[in-house]
Amino acid sequence: MGELRHLINITDLSVKELDHLMETADDIIANPEKYQDACAHKKLATLFFEPSTRTRLSFTAAMMELGGNVLGFDSADSSSSKKGESVSDTIIMAGCYADIIAMRHPKEGAPVVGAVKSSVPIINAGDGGHFHPTQTLTDLMTIHRKKGEIGNFTVGLCGDLKYGRTVHSLIEALLRYEGVKYVMIAPEELRLPAYIREKLDEAGAEWSEVESLDDAIPDLDILYMTRIQQERFPSWEEYEKLKDSFILTRAMLKPAKEDLIIMHPLPRVNEIDVDVDDDPRACYFYQALMGKYIRMALILYLLGIK
Ligand code: CP
Repeated sequence: MGELRHLINITDLSVKELDHLMETADDIIANPEKYQDACAHKKLATLFFEPSTRTRLSFTAAMMELGGNVLGFDSADSSSSKKGESVSDTIIMAGCYADIIAMRHPKEGAPVVGAVKSSVPIINAGDGGHFHPTQTLTDLMTIHRKKGEIGNFTVGLCGDLKYGRTVHSLIEALLRYEGVKYVMIAPEELRLPAYIREKLDEAGAEWSEVESLDDAIPDLDILYMTRIQQERFPSWEEYEKLKDSFILTRAMLKPAKEDLIIMHPLPRVNEIDVDVDDDPRACYFYQALMGKYIRMALILYLLGIK
């Protein structure tokens, strides 16, 4: 049996491994029939203690397209955690029934706790405001497919940079690539947490902070919009004050580069007007589709299936 691997943080994977996953996902897109029975008789458990559309459905679709099966729950209320079962015990149980686990939990660090006792690979499908490494795989795959390389671009990260776990994971990943410049676009209250700022500085990254999306747009190669994370705010009043901090409209894209790509991990609330959806630079639904292929590649890799 090979070494048991988990994916808790995106830095659990080397750049070489990220390249391998993207190459595999490219091959899956080109030759889906080669992979249709790759996970026959294997089972994925999706343990979602928090709501999800894309992550859970794309993991489910990924395992089904690999010929495997899926079991699990989609809310804490429909699992025995409602009766007080610990994360650790839930993970031990899931390992009795499945070969690999994708888990989302509102508490930061819950997947690490789960991984300690797990007999099967654990994939962090989002832990509170902390990390969301498979969203980062999705983002990297989108950049790889749309830009041809990861690096040598200016990326604007816009919205809730404080609570937005997708931004934290993406920055950690991009810090390992050359030539990335960062423009952080957020109101003062929603700026990056200190530990991510420290990582940017330690890596010697070129980064700036601005409050105006309009001013930032002309210089960007990638615009990564994010939702204001209502569920992580200490009060509704504070959320109300900041919820419409940025709304990207078609008119705002007039000075943008022709080859800009607009990304968003989704779900969106108000932060991208639906008028933008028809702009050829809008990539967020394509990005969600890429999530399925890269998760297929990840499942194969963690299960050690060639
Ligand atoms: N991007 C993302 O994590 O979406 P869901 O919350 O719908 O899974």
